[in-house]
Amino acid sequence: MEVERVQEIANFSKETIPEEFIRTTYEQPALTTVQGTVLEVPVIDLSDPDEEKVVRAIVDASSNWGMFQVVNHGIPHETVRKLKEVGKAFFELPPQEKEAYAKSPGSQSIEGYGTKLQREVEGKKAWVDHLFHKIWPPSEINYQFWPKNPPSYRKNNEEYAKHMHGVVDKLFRCLSLGLGLEGNEMKEAMGGDNMVYLLKINYYPQCPQADLALGVPAHTDMSAITILVPNDVQGLQACKDDHWYDVEYIPNALIVHIGDQIEIVSNGKYKSVLHRAKVNKEKTRISWPVFVEPPSDLEVGPHPKLVNEANPPKFKSKKYSQYCFCKLNKTPQ
Ligand code: OGA
Ligand code: NI
Repeated sequence: MEVERVQEIANFSKETIPEEFIRTTYEQPALTTVQGTVLEVPVIDLSDPDEEKVVRAIVDASSNWGMFQVVNHGIPHETVRKLKEVGKAFFELPPQEKEAYAKSPGSQSIEGYGTKLQREVEGKKAWVDHLFHKIWPPSEINYQFWPKNPPSYRKNNEEYAKHMHGVVDKLFRCLSLGLGLEGNEMKEAMGGDNMVYLLKINYYPQCPQADLALGVPAHTDMSAITILVPNDVQGLQACKDDHWYDVEYIPNALIVHIGDQIEIVSNGKYKSVLHRAKVNKEKTRISWPVFVEPPSDLEVGPHPKLVNEANPPKFKSKKYSQYCFCKLNKTPQ
């Protein structure tokens, strides 16, 4: 079966795009975005020595937006630049070289190169191709899905994974303290050092009818948290109080999303953010989210210290794999 990659479709769609990519007016970004900088996703300086201040800022952002950007986060800018360089180079390889990493149609695993084949409700498709592979822990890595070309792909990705731990630990510590827990309790509830880092590269080719399409439709991430770096083409949007806002591109910042598992562990105090991605008429947009997830067989539920008679659990406890299964198959949680 010939698989249609969006990158190929973009090559011959110079003025118009196929009908299945055209969104209803309820979704079209040009019609549904708040114009002007009315409100913005908070920007937090992680190097501020006043930890209480950082905790307050993270609690505020995680309760009100479910998303924030962090600057001075400790990952060297050069490490991020090199991660982006090799990811972009992979997508610029000829189609047949990329297809060597294609996710096989019947595979249970999400890893590999691909394009979402299943259409969404209303029969629409997203303007994006992707590559998924785990980058941590080493025992979970399947190198068959890591491109061999460019040759520095592996080294640059390993370098990024290594530097992520500092940010992840800091974020979990602040999220934990912000709920009145001990600094390590939130991370422990998510699997501690067994947490899995799943990297995705989103490749959104330029799109002649960008106002009518979406790169990723509105969703919340299933992960605990997601840490994303984009290229310099703005496109990410966050939903707050039923309105869509552009998330500003800030060079060298990391964009942190609160995912469903943190919402559950916090018993709803922190909100998993509804977000989507636009595409661009002139430029290719690329983004590198890392989904920081509990191990698949870990049971996740509201933290016992956060529930009592006055605050009953708002979510069921279940294995992370079970949560993902229900969400992907759209069955009730
Ligand atoms: C995702 C996602 C947003 C972006 O892949 O889950 O939300 O900016 N991507 O690419
Ligand atoms: Ni997402």
